[in-house]
Amino acid sequence: MSAGAPAIALRPALPGDTPVLAAILRAAVFELTSEDYDSDQQEAWVEVAEDEADFGARLAERLTLVATREGEPVGFIALKDNKAIDLLYVHPDAVGQGVATLLCTAAETLAKARGSQSLSADASDTALGFFQKRGYVPQRRNTVPLGAAWLGTTTVEKRLGDGSAVQ
Ligand SMILES: CC(C)(COP(=O)(O)OP(=O)(O)OC[C@H]1O[C@@H](n2cnc3c(N)ncnc32)[C@H](O)[C@@H]1OP(=O)(O)O)[C@@H](O)C(=O)NCCC(=O)NCCS
Repeated sequence: MSAGAPAIALRPALPGDTPVLAAILRAAVFELTSEDYDSDQQEAWVEVAEDEADFGARLAERLTLVATREGEPVGFIALKDNKAIDLLYVHPDAVGQGVATLLCTAAETLAKARGSQSLSADASDTALGFFQKRGYVPQRRNTVPLGAAWLGTTTVEKRLGDGSAVQ
């Protein structure tokens, strides 16, 4: 982050965040993943946030953290069962500033504090490099049916605590 850039803060998600988090997901998918997924795949992907009630319930059932810049949400992460990162999205205007790093570090700390030995994620092809940089190790390749499309992802896993890689 450059000197003088507004600080990023973290807080738990609130029910009223659902529309803005859905908008962040949509913007991230359409603006950041085009090198890895075609428009049919992107359209199918953003459907997960189409129904506000369903999406809000998914956020509420997970431990969802919101990153804010000057009070405005710029990214979020959802931790499922203290074992898996279910959602991780950063608004295109805020990428490359360490927002996902902050969110992921917090999720890893919480998962470890709650007794988990490792954390996994089904990483998009776009996010795979980010996760690998943080020490997540690819476990298997998936082809996930999503509406009328299929999305390639990679399940990655990181051992928490002792710093050793998951083999
Ligand atoms: C992947 C994503 C979450 C990264 O968010 P971000 O806030 O830009 O990430 P950070 O700024 O914390 O990046 C941390 C480091 O990872 C690197 N990094 C980020 N995205 C990367 C990528 N796709 N490939 C390789 N490295 C990446 C950064 O260069 C940075 O390295 P540095 O510390 O040496 O500067 C964001 O690009 C995104 O929302 N992508 C689209 C949606 C998506 O695929 N979500 C994941 C679903 S599993």
